[in-house]
Amino acid sequence: MDEIIKNKNIYIQYNSKIFNNFTDKLFNIDYITKEGLIKSEINGRGKAYEIEYDNKVYILKHYIRGGFASKISYDNYIFDSLASTRSVKEYNFLNSLFSKDLPVPKPAALEVIKKKFTYTASLITCKIQNVGTLNDFVINNKMNYELWSILKKTLEDFYKHNVYHADLNAKNILIDNKNNFHLIDFDKSYFFYEKKLFNKSIMRLERSLLKLENYNNEMKRIIKSFS
Ligand SMILES: Nc1ncnc2c1ncn2[C@@H]1O[C@H](COP(=O)(O)OP(=O)(O)O)[C@@H](O)[C@H]1O
Ligand SMILES: [Mg+2]
Repeated sequence: MDEIIKNKNIYIQYNSKIFNNFTDKLFNIDYITKEGLIKSEINGRGKAYEIEYDNKVYILKHYIRGGFASKISYDNYIFDSLASTRSVKEYNFLNSLFSKDLPVPKPAALEVIKKKFTYTASLITCKIQNVGTLNDFVINNKMNYELWSILKKTLEDFYKHNVYHADLNAKNILIDNKNNFHLIDFDKSYFFYEKKLFNKSIMRLERSLLKLENYNNEMKRIIKSFS
């Protein structure tokens, strides 16, 4: 069940089945810092926070701009409609993937702060307990034939459901302690309408792997299964 909190220029939506005592302050970095809710800071492209609240662990991410646009503005996006904001889109997309039993984080809450013509956005997902990213596993020589086969099967499941991941790379794939793979970071992703989009995401993943030490071209077999 989703609840909505509207406060002047701030729109917040959260899943009340996940939170017993939701507070919009979870989006407030000063508050979560002061209250000691931050378990760790994750430095990726932007900054994500692992937060513990009411005995549950979440990941809070703030959307930041990439590429050329980041030179103009760090985290402001042009506002068109609420439905087309980054956090609403990723929240809804994750919900639909989650309901298809695909291994993705459960979305918990989102925020959109509207300015005059722009907005900033944040998303809270339930943390996937993991033992590392595909990136870590390759670098540390922990991948093996069985794990590559499981990854292949996981990617096939996403393919069967027409999921296009716009930023599939070795850091957006997590591995848990039962050897299950999970895909995260579905910003700008959508259901694809042509197969070549899926292939594009697989090639993107391969490019990210080719940069890594100890990577031995294991994607070749996976790529073949999609062509
Ligand atoms: N639900 C999640 N469970 C566990 N870790 C996560 C989750 N969501 C994000 N992370 C971690 O936070 C990092 C940044 O999140 P991500 O959604 O990839 O944002 P971006 O790459 O745009 O900064 C990820 O690389 C991952 O380490
Ligand atoms: Mg990422």
